[in-house]
Amino acid sequence: MKVTIVGAGNVGATCADAIAYRRIASEIVLLDIREGFAEGKALDIMQTQTTLGFNTKVSGSTNDYSKTAGSDVVVITSGIPRKPGMTREELIGINAGIVKSVAESLLQHSPNAIVVVVSNPMDTMTYLTLKATGLPKNRIIGMGGALDSSRFKTYLSQALDKPANDIHGMVIGGHGDTTMIPLTRLAAYNGVPVSEFLSTERLEKVAADTMVGGATLTALLGTSAWYAPGASVAYLVDSILNDQKKMIPCSVLLEGEYGQSDICIGVPCIIGKNGIEKIVAIDLNDEEKAKFAKSADAVRAMNADLKSVLA
Ligand code: NAI
Ligand code: 2OP
Repeated sequence: MKVTIVGAGNVGATCADAIAYRRIASEIVLLDIREGFAEGKALDIMQTQTTLGFNTKVSGSTNDYSKTAGSDVVVITSGIPRKPGMTREELIGINAGIVKSVAESLLQHSPNAIVVVVSNPMDTMTYLTLKATGLPKNRIIGMGGALDSSRFKTYLSQALDKPANDIHGMVIGGHGDTTMIPLTRLAAYNGVPVSEFLSTERLEKVAADTMVGGATLTALLGTSAWYAPGASVAYLVDSILNDQKKMIPCSVLLEGEYGQSDICIGVPCIIGKNGIEKIVAIDLNDEEKAKFAKSADAVRAMNADLKSVLA
């Protein structure tokens, strides 16, 4: 099984490291536009093989897509972060140009690959990839909900003072500070609703901390996070390559589900060898439905900035 990751920066390289160390794929290609950068990251990861005990082949490439040929999964992490003074529209314009050309180059060499989109604004970049490539919706997966859910479960485990792996919970909606929806009503500690243990105020605080989870890390680190994002991509890729059928909130094209159409946004999906194998319809209450509709409005407004790229 071969995985290509475009963008050998913080998230891309961490993702490659996690996929190699966990033996999720037999071959990984890291590709970056920066001369020698992907080759350097790949070589560094390869030199952990004997100490960490894996045999995955990791190689790097400076923009030579022929090296990515025959990939089963391709991951797009290339893009630039928002710089001071830059408008959201400018950022979207630049990243959309990068994501579109990267997706097209990847698919020329791996026409059957499943595409995982990570670059921000992720829901909009997922929609762009879908529209630009014309691939069936099951093969375009936006990663954001896996990360936001892992942050949600971490904050819940801290509030409960219980092991994180005993906690279940999901975050749906857009992958943004104001658009994501931590589903506190459905979160559970070994099957018991967390509301049995935590007050409404405490749960609201957990949800609020989750929503600004990315921004909190950006403020601490001076750039966006990479360990949890890289691990979340690896978790998703594992479910695809090993046909695990995990239920993971992912950004996917909705065609009437959750009352929305012509938008990519986070909803629970079954992830297996065909990519998005099923969108899981869960019964949201009225408050959650209203939040989801508002989140979709915000994502749709951002998609409007793609007009010139998609024209
Ligand atoms: P980074 O700046 O460390 O890495 C980005 C890499 O992309 C750089 O090495 C750059 O040279 C490369 N690149 C730029 N244009 C390229 C092109 N045309 N072809 C190939 N490579 C190209 O950034 P980082 O921290 O790795 O973040 C990557 C993206 O992922 C950002 O858009 C970030 O906002 C997003 N992100 C998304 C998350 C999610 O949950 N969806 C979580 C964390 C980050
Ligand atoms: C994150 O959630 C910024 O999408 C990035 O860490």
